[in-house]
Amino acid sequence: MKADPNTLSLRQKASLLTGGGFWSTTAVPEAGIDAIVLSDGPHGVRRQKHGTDHLGLEHSEPATCFPPAVAVGSSWDEEVAAKIGAALAKEARALGVDILLGPGVNIKRSPLGGRNFEYYSEDPLLSGRLATAYVKALQAGGVGASVKHFAANDQETDRMVISADVDERTLREIHLSAFERVVTEAGPATVMCSYNRVNGVPASENRRLLTDVLRGEWGYTGAVISDWGAVRARPTALSAGLDLSMPGPGEYATQALVDAVTSGRVEESAVDRAVERVLALVDAAPHEAAAPDLDAHHALARELAAECAVLLKNARGVLPLDRPASVLVVGEFATAPRYQGGGSSHVNATRVDVPLEFIEAHAATRGTRVTYARGFDTRDEDGAALREAAVRAAGEAEVVVVFAGNPEAEESEGFDRERIELPPSQVRLIKEVAAVAARTVVVLANGGVVSLEEWHDDVDAILEGFLLGQGGGAAIADLLFGEADPSGRLAETIPHRLQDTPTYLSFPGEQGHVRYSEGVMVGYRHYGTIDAPVRYPFGHGLGYTEYEVSDMRVRVDGPAGASVEVTVTNTGVRSGKYVVQVYVSTQAGPVRRPERALAAFTKVRVEPGRATRVRLELDRRAFAYWDVPLARWVVPEGTYVVQVGENAATVLHEQAVHLEGDGVEPPLSLQANVGEWLAHPAAGPPLRARIGSLMARSGSDLDDDGDEMRTVASMPMNQILNLTGGAIDGDWLLSLLGASPTSTDEQEGTHS
Ligand code: BGC
Repeated sequence: MKADPNTLSLRQKASLLTGGGFWSTTAVPEAGIDAIVLSDGPHGVRRQKHGTDHLGLEHSEPATCFPPAVAVGSSWDEEVAAKIGAALAKEARALGVDILLGPGVNIKRSPLGGRNFEYYSEDPLLSGRLATAYVKALQAGGVGASVKHFAANDQETDRMVISADVDERTLREIHLSAFERVVTEAGPATVMCSYNRVNGVPASENRRLLTDVLRGEWGYTGAVISDWGAVRARPTALSAGLDLSMPGPGEYATQALVDAVTSGRVEESAVDRAVERVLALVDAAPHEAAAPDLDAHHALARELAAECAVLLKNARGVLPLDRPASVLVVGEFATAPRYQGGGSSHVNATRVDVPLEFIEAHAATRGTRVTYARGFDTRDEDGAALREAAVRAAGEAEVVVVFAGNPEAEESEGFDRERIELPPSQVRLIKEVAAVAARTVVVLANGGVVSLEEWHDDVDAILEGFLLGQGGGAAIADLLFGEADPSGRLAETIPHRLQDTPTYLSFPGEQGHVRYSEGVMVGYRHYGTIDAPVRYPFGHGLGYTEYEVSDMRVRVDGPAGASVEVTVTNTGVRSGKYVVQVYVSTQAGPVRRPERALAAFTKVRVEPGRATRVRLELDRRAFAYWDVPLARWVVPEGTYVVQVGENAATVLHEQAVHLEGDGVEPPLSLQANVGEWLAHPAAGPPLRARIGSLMARSGSDLDDDGDEMRTVASMPMNQILNLTGGAIDGDWLLSLLGASPTSTDEQEGTHS
């Protein structure tokens, strides 16, 4: 039954705007309004029926732990995200969950970000497209999404109070962009505001973000909910556009709203609007469904995990393992895998695949002998005895596979990481094993990027698993033995050193503020623009077959759009998937553009010896920048180099095209400098003529390259008007702005 808000009292309405419990909205039984259930989280359903917390400490019902966002980002595959969304919808419904609290689309501005494992990428297009696919599939299954954490919540240090101080262009191009895409393309049921402040204003009270941008500009019609405990001043948050404050119960917040309306500080119509949005969620809540096939979901988790791992290095073709006589498996994570991060997204997995068991199973069918040495203990940083035993055994095996990674205690919601190196005991183990082993393969488990520097050159192969969910152990074994082909690509750059990262000096901020001083130059945009070397670039990833990319054609479609086609040929002998990455490089427009930015991508399967023609559309956003004075996206006229890259650092083919652009001219004011006025197509020529004649009168020439002219060009126009004592008239100048570009020297008649 649809509830009628008009039949509700002010108190009843206010009570609907805060949670009724930790994970539910408020029910008003006398009005026939039920409560709905919200639960974490992005990669699995964390339904707590008994005991409640948002830190992942209490028990939750068993559910499939799919690959977390860090892995999905590396799949570069919308189908992976969509399959997870669809499966989660089934599990959520079976567990009585109406809104699932995810996905997280914050941008990884530093590798130290404590929740990087919950986010997709350092690139907003990749993040936005994957999240859009996830939300569409989740909601098609009847369960509402909650896109979070809106906005600029890119660190855990002081996350409840820190002010992310971000300039407008950076916000739009980098930190709001993925939200914008999901909101406009997938219509998520809810958007969750973050804890932090954005340019000084708490996200929960940020009218500009929650109302002007989200609803006004992006046309959002769903409900804005708070992160758990993010609301401080309930009436202020409501006025800013926050509909539902979580968690509850919230008698205090309800009373505050009632008082604010009664005293006239808040319009009752604002309450009514928020109530309608919350009731729309209640009305849309799905019916509980039968329990899904958890075995099938586990198999899916394993299949998808294999799509996400990234083969970083494969020297001497050591992978896939080709029937070696013996394999020594080393490392605690081979028997106790790390497959998800800590905190509110922590899922109580239905089961967990143990890598060693699956390696043994694959090895058994190949006549390969497998032995195991623990090598290190995450709780004992010394672990000399374990290391020495592993090194002794390493000399005898044909191949050693070391499972290394970040200890669970180092990666969780609530704090940032302090380093990007692996624990010293593991680094030492890898080096000592590699020194005696015939072949060494390292398999990594980590939620945030780790440095490979100290040991990269000592080993033959590196398979970066990040955190792969509960099927990751089997997936890794499948990949090692070539039962699956690695097809993941890095969704974030692996730097040489933390000091090289663009946020090294500003993360995590000080005295309550974190200044986004890198601007739009996040991740690969930074390294590419300053031409700095990295260990592995964004987009890097190897497979077990070879590809050739050829016959690039770019077609301009209108003033601000294009499409690109390439042929991908599998020149190897195994089937595989290839990620076509299209970047745009330009210096068009008045702002500093990154050396290149991802503009489109797709993942295609190509059979050996076969070729496929791939076409990708580049919409106007692929060429646009955010113009601050105009407060809009602008595609300036100019040259755009469309590049097909093996990754963000290696361009395979490129083609320059000329785009007419939007034809948007920034309005000139008398504060603009003379150079800008001279460059204006309509005002420039008559102004030039006027200055020329004034100079001629004083016996000098107008020399564009002369020092005098250079000095004049950098002066604000109104200063020149004063200096010339009225010889150039401000009104005349402003009148030229609307004139046709050919009109010239009409001022001569009026002023000479
Ligand atoms: C987290 C959210 C989460 C919520 C509920 C908060 O601490 O930031 O991501 O959805 O708790 O558990």
